[in-house]
Amino acid sequence: MPQSLPELAPIETLFDPTSKAYSENPGPQCLAIAERGPLVWYAPWQAWIMTQMPDIMDCWKREYLSSDFYDWEFAPPRPTEENWNNFEKALVGHSLLADQGHHRLVRRITAPAFSRNVVENIQRRLEPHVKKLFDEIGQPESFDYIEEVARHIPFISITAMIGVPEKYWPAMKRVTMTFTETWNPTISEERRLRAQDDSNKAIDILQEVIAERRKDPVDGDFLSTLLKIEAENEKFNEWDIITLILALIGAGADTTLVAQQWSVYTLLKNPDQIPLALESADAFSNAFSEIMRWSGNSKMGFARYAPADMALLGQEVKKGQMVLMMPHLKDHNPEYYDNPEKLDVRRVFEPDVLFGYGPRFCIGAALAKRQLYLTLSELFKRFPKLSLAEEPEKSLEDHNSVVFKTLKLNTNCN
Ligand code: HEM
Repeated sequence: MPQSLPELAPIETLFDPTSKAYSENPGPQCLAIAERGPLVWYAPWQAWIMTQMPDIMDCWKREYLSSDFYDWEFAPPRPTEENWNNFEKALVGHSLLADQGHHRLVRRITAPAFSRNVVENIQRRLEPHVKKLFDEIGQPESFDYIEEVARHIPFISITAMIGVPEKYWPAMKRVTMTFTETWNPTISEERRLRAQDDSNKAIDILQEVIAERRKDPVDGDFLSTLLKIEAENEKFNEWDIITLILALIGAGADTTLVAQQWSVYTLLKNPDQIPLALESADAFSNAFSEIMRWSGNSKMGFARYAPADMALLGQEVKKGQMVLMMPHLKDHNPEYYDNPEKLDVRRVFEPDVLFGYGPRFCIGAALAKRQLYLTLSELFKRFPKLSLAEEPEKSLEDHNSVVFKTLKLNTNCN
């Protein structure tokens, strides 16, 4: 008689990134879902989860799935052009996310704005603001790193990058905090519209700053470089610049906040690695990938949408369904990494996919690593005897990442 296969437990009983157990130790849950197969239906999110690295890299590279939020089966209707407000004009009309052809063009022609030279100029602008932040903290016995440092960094970086004059700072600060709410399907319509309103105000400011910079260009400056690109390329206009800056705010604010807190926590848990990680900007670049691997803070992965009904990795995927690529599932898998529980900032990553891969590789990667290196170097220079004041409590609130409620540090300097 043929033996029947044992029934598998529903995957949501083994894998739940919103659970406390996941926030404490995600490794076993990540292994459990990856063992289920290359593409697993996850009912709580009504989405497919892509679990294996070769498939994820292929999907990143060939872009056979859509990155356009409005292709999602549960997205609100795509707003029609005659009703667009400025926010929609930037994010629906000229979306960096939607049209693959235009996206590739924008990435190709804007590459000079992210060149080493421009990134170094941005870092030079950033440095005095970071030092001022630490001057304001002074020499306390203890402080909360998230409250006093980490949450200010995304705003400081964006304003330093674009060169926004101080009179516009309060309005710009709001948008860096609310931007990702503009398309978050899990929050109320009212809150989403309020966030869109913050973005509309930021767009007005960006238009003014752009007008000022047109009159008064600064050589080697990020915005002036983009304006030069605009003058030389018919298919790249002021709305592309605004879209790009909003995308930088959207993709660069929350990620930076998470990166800041986990970098400090991870290094303080592994103090022998601090001098190795901060030896140089290049050493830190590798160390950061290891910090993010070791800390296991990702919950969601990267969303794509099926453009049509399709057979994919042994499953029938319906048009509009979400596919979440989860490269972090491998991060504590001993088949991928020797001794995965050990933090080794000199570990070799081949390939290193922390910042993605292929046409949508993170635009801000160099900037993000420089900004972190700068802040952490300043932190450990000012407080060489720094330690964790307590084991920080994790928050389950954040949609994308495991984060801390607070991160209290003892300076041990008095
Ligand atoms: C701090 C840590 C950061 C990490 C780990 C990170 C990681 C990533 C990843 C994995 C992607 C690809 C997403 C996908 O395929 O769907 C991405 C895209 C992107 N990132 Fe980052 N990022 C970080 C910081 C930043 C910063 C600071 C900026 C801006 C200054 C930024 C701007 C962008 C943009 C605009 C995209 C979209 C690129 C495109 O679609 O062509 N990121 N990032």
